Formats: sequence, C-alpha cells, structure tokens
Amino acid sequence: MPKIIALAGKGGTGKTTISALLIKYLTERKLTPVLAVDADPNANLNELLGLRIGQTIGQIRKEIKGEIPIHMSRDQFMEMKIQQSLIEESGFDLMVMGQPDGPGCYCAANQYLAMSMDHLAGNYRYILVDNEAGMEHLSRMNLTIIDYLLVISDPSARGIMTAGRISEITTPLGLTIKQKGLIVNRAPEPVPAALQNRIEQTVTESDLPLAGIFSASEELIDYELSGESYLQLPAETPVVAQAFAAFDKIFAA
Ligand SMILES: Nc1ncnc2c1ncn2[C@@H]1O[C@H](COP(=O)(O)OP(=O)(O)O)[C@@H](O)[C@H]1O
Ligand SMILES: [Mg+2]
Repeated sequence: MPKIIALAGKGGTGKTTISALLIKYLTERKLTPVLAVDADPNANLNELLGLRIGQTIGQIRKEIKGEIPIHMSRDQFMEMKIQQSLIEESGFDLMVMGQPDGPGCYCAANQYLAMSMDHLAGNYRYILVDNEAGMEHLSRMNLTIIDYLLVISDPSARGIMTAGRISEITTPLGLTIKQKGLIVNRAPEPVPAALQNRIEQTVTESDLPLAGIFSASEELIDYELSGESYLQLPAETPVVAQAFAAFDKIFAA
C-alpha cells in the first residue's frame, strides 16, 4: 500500500510550493512512483512543475452524468477517464481535482471516485495531496489514513498557533494521522530568537512536532516568475537543501 502524505495550512503559507519540493525530493531519491494530487479548486501545482493540465476530476464527474459507452458501467468509465486524465511524468503522475461539485451534485460520482482511487492507489509508493485550506478531498478520495500530515505555517506567532489548530481538526474530519510535522515557511534568515522561541513553545504545547524551518527564497520567486519548473532548481539552492534535509528525517526513517 502507498504511503499517504497530506499538506495542510492556511492559504498562501506555501503548501503548493512545498508539494513541488516534495515531488522533487521523492523523484530524485527514487522513492517512486508518486501520485501527486492537486486538490485545490484553483489548481496551480502544475505550473510550478512546468506542466499543462488536461481534464480535471471535476470535469470527469460532470461527464459521467451524461451518456457513456454502452459496453461500460459508470464506475468503469470513470476509472478509465481518470487514468487518461493523469499527467504522466518521470517518476510521478499528477492528478488534478478541479472544481468541487455544486449543489446539483451527482453524488454517485464520488463513490466511483473513491472506488477508482482504491484501484489506482496500488500503483504508487507515495500519494501526496496538496490540499486547499480544508481537507475535504481526502475523505472523498477514501484517503482517510494519512501516514504524514505536514502543516505549513507562515513565520508568525499567530500563524503557528493556527497550524496547531489545523492539526487538531483532523479528528472530526474522520482522518487517522500516523505522523505529523510542522513546517515554518518563508522564515527570515537567520531565524530571530523570538520566533525560534515561539516555535519551540508551540511545538511543546501541541502534538505537532517541528519538521523544518524553510527560509524565504529569492530562487523560488524567480523560478515562479519565469515559469521554470521547480524540478530544475539546483540542489545547492538553500531552500532546496533545507527541504531535502527535513524530508530525509521524515521519510528516510
Ligand atoms: N520559502 C519561500 N520563499 C519565497 N516565497 C515563497 C516561499 N514559499 C512560498 N512562497 C511564495 O508564496 C506564495 C504562496 O505560496 P503557495 O505555495 O502558493 O501557498 P499555498 O499553496 O499554501 O496557498 C507563492 O507566490 C510562493 O511563490
Ligand atoms: Mg496552493
């Protein structure tokens, strides 16, 4: 069975950025094959990887409401469409959830999605889910046992408190989390003592151990602006080195 990695955190904290760095890490360390799921309705993980998206799961969900080939059941059809919609890259596939269903939801589609995920999951070593602020997609995809939950925070006292709270709402969502970690992102370099203290205090008061502090990075901004893939970032880029060191501690164990 694949290991499931979920990224959570407030909007703009760096979930998608860190998802891209994690895909870079897993593929370079040959911890493959990886299924990367962009679960943000405003899909943008593909941009950081220099990829263009095709059909989204949201679009497929709409399509199976209509006519389908007569020799297929709806769940078979959905599974085939999902397979076709995957963006296949070296070491990883990208799946894009797209828009959630509106009020007129064809709810059987979500059951087919969960069934298809059960079949697909066996093909992968890791499944990584870049979540929107909420984490509803996880249960929709039947991914309820999470091996690693990484909560991303901005480098502020309130941000870090919020991260602690986000890690606590996973129980009501019906998720089982095996391992959690806090990543404080876009930190000033060096990390001011007051911030360091606050991080340590929050970590000891919550069940969210510190997994890493990543610096604010000019390189990430430059690559994002030029549209170059984060997969091409050199290993010596400081934020890449920090991220890989943190991921080694989490995933090499
Ligand atoms: N470590 C970092 N250094 C510099 N900019 C960053 C860093 N992490 C994220 N950003 C920038 O912050 C913005 C929001 O990041 P993003 O990953 O899209 O957040 P989220 O997915 O949580 O909404 C993006 O423009 C991104 O380039
Ligand atoms: Mg995002």
